[in-house]
Amino acid sequence: MLCNAPSRGCTSSNDSASATRFEPIHGPHASGHPHSSGRHCTVLSDPDLYRLFGGPSGQSAAVEELLRCHSVALSSLRVATEDVALPSGTIRMGEAVLASIEAANHDARVFSTPLNCLPSRDTEASAKRHLAFGRGPHFCLGSHLSRLLIEAAFTCLARAVPTLRLDIDLDDIKWGALRRSPATLPVSW
Ligand code: HEM
Repeated sequence: MLCNAPSRGCTSSNDSASATRFEPIHGPHASGHPHSSGRHCTVLSDPDLYRLFGGPSGQSAAVEELLRCHSVALSSLRVATEDVALPSGTIRMGEAVLASIEAANHDARVFSTPLNCLPSRDTEASAKRHLAFGRGPHFCLGSHLSRLLIEAAFTCLARAVPTLRLDIDLDDIKWGALRRSPATLPVSW
């Protein structure tokens, strides 16, 4: 685990491996693995965001933004049990609908500059409006656990290794076969 790595050093392939190894700190599903790697990239590439996790407050706002920006579930599949009239047309009973959670979470009509991870958005409103955990009767049963684990993981990391940072431009990251999973995540500290 990266928290146990030597306190100072620079990037090597082993360091990169260490960085990706800290994923299990909060478990595959809870972390949203492999999508949690997207969260790691966002947090480690933004010193203010990383510092916020090591600081006295504001972590829950950051977690909501990370959830909004990097959802595990990209879409939600439903089958209409009756005809549903929408402005864009009618969904007939029995038809399947794949609703994009990712698109909803990046809707510029709801979240200004939606591609930016901004904990400064109003936490409560953002938490109520993003759909990372779904909505309605099938709302995620693990939402509270996941929020706690994401916050604990980044807070622990930021306090243990305050100087940790991504050692590569976000644009230069080579992504692995899995969505949002970098092949390596070079860091230095
Ligand atoms: C960041 C982590 C997680 C995210 C983003 C997430 C997201 C979601 C979403 C979007 C749904 C709704 C799916 C739908 O409407 O079709 C869902 C359902 C569910 N999640 Fe999660 N989840 C996470 C972690 C967890 C964890 C850690 C657990 C269990 C410990 C869990 C248990 C469940 C269960 C049981 C349901 C089904 C609820 C139902 O159908 O009534 N989830 N999750």
